[in-house]
Parts: sequence; C-alpha cells; structure tokens
Amino acid sequence: MSNSDAVRMTVDDCAVLQLPRIDRAQGNISVVESERHVPFALQRVYYLYDVPGGQERGGHAHRTLEQLIISCLGAFDVVLDDGNRRRTVTLNRSYYGLHLRPGIWREIVNFSSGATCLVLASQPYEESDYIRRRDEFLRFKQGGQDDVRHRSGLIA
Ligand code: TYD
Repeated sequence: MSNSDAVRMTVDDCAVLQLPRIDRAQGNISVVESERHVPFALQRVYYLYDVPGGQERGGHAHRTLEQLIISCLGAFDVVLDDGNRRRTVTLNRSYYGLHLRPGIWREIVNFSSGATCLVLASQPYEESDYIRRRDEFLRFKQGGQDDVRHRSGLIA
C-alpha cells in the first residue's frame, strides 16, 4: 500500500466484514485467520479496555496501516472521515469487523460501559506511520503533500 493509495482512500473503502461464527448452546466462537478472513497479513493485535465514560480514542490516520476493528464486548461508534465525507459505523457484535484502511481519519466514541475494542493490524507499532495532526491529514488528502519536515515538527 503506497502513500498515493492512502490519499485516494475514501470512507466507502472501509467495509464491515462478517466473520465466521461457530454457534453452540455452550457459547460461540468467531475466528480471524490472517489473509483468509481479513484481506491482509496480521502482524499485531492490541485491545482497548477500561475506557472511562465519555472518553474518545483515535483522532488520527495512518499512512499505510490496515486494521480490522472488532467489538469483543459492548459497543462503540467508529467515525470515519476521508477529509471529504464522514461515515459512522456502530460495532456491537463480536462477529463483525470493520476494515479500516490507510488514509482515513478515525475517532472511536460512545463506548458503552466495559466495552472492549480488539484491533488486528497489518504492521508492528510504528509512530512514523501516524498522521496525528488534522491539518497535516487534510494536506495529505489534498494531493499527497506529505512533507517529512511537517512530520518531524521542523515546520508548522
Ligand atoms: P494510539 O494509537 O494513539 O491510541 P488510540 O488511537 O487508541 O487513542 O496509542 C496511544 C499510545 O500507545 C501511544 O503513545 C502509542 C502507544 N502504543 C504502542 O506503544 N503500541 C501500540 O501498538 C499502540 C496501538 C499504541
């Protein structure tokens, strides 16, 4: 995935995938196999939990990272924004995953009490893959001007 793909990515490129379910009277299982149930190779798993009421997460975009976001417990809303349009996806079932693409600004809001957000990611943690400033994101989406000096804070 190159920078120019991330520049062109829109909120409509973020699909909600239905994951396999093995339903039994004694409880259910859902499963995600790398490159089979998600369209990328998995390299990292992390999860958000103990989110205080009213707290919001996210507020950034990624340059190349692909992610699958699952609500393992409870519910939350993922607000997607491509710099042009916004779309809100509610996740409240363990057998749905939102495929979050690079070049999409995301905020995760309205966490229910005890909600647990599982994230499967295509790469290890790398701070340089983040776009954390909104103005930098909008510049990036307006033609891929992605000056490394902005990233390093050398120019405003
Ligand atoms: P961040 O991705 O900004 O959190 P969120 O989008 O959920 O609000 O990460 C918060 C902090 O955690 C940041 O300092 C980086 C650190 N972090 C890691 O060290 N490794 C990871 O895999 C992740 C996701 C975050």
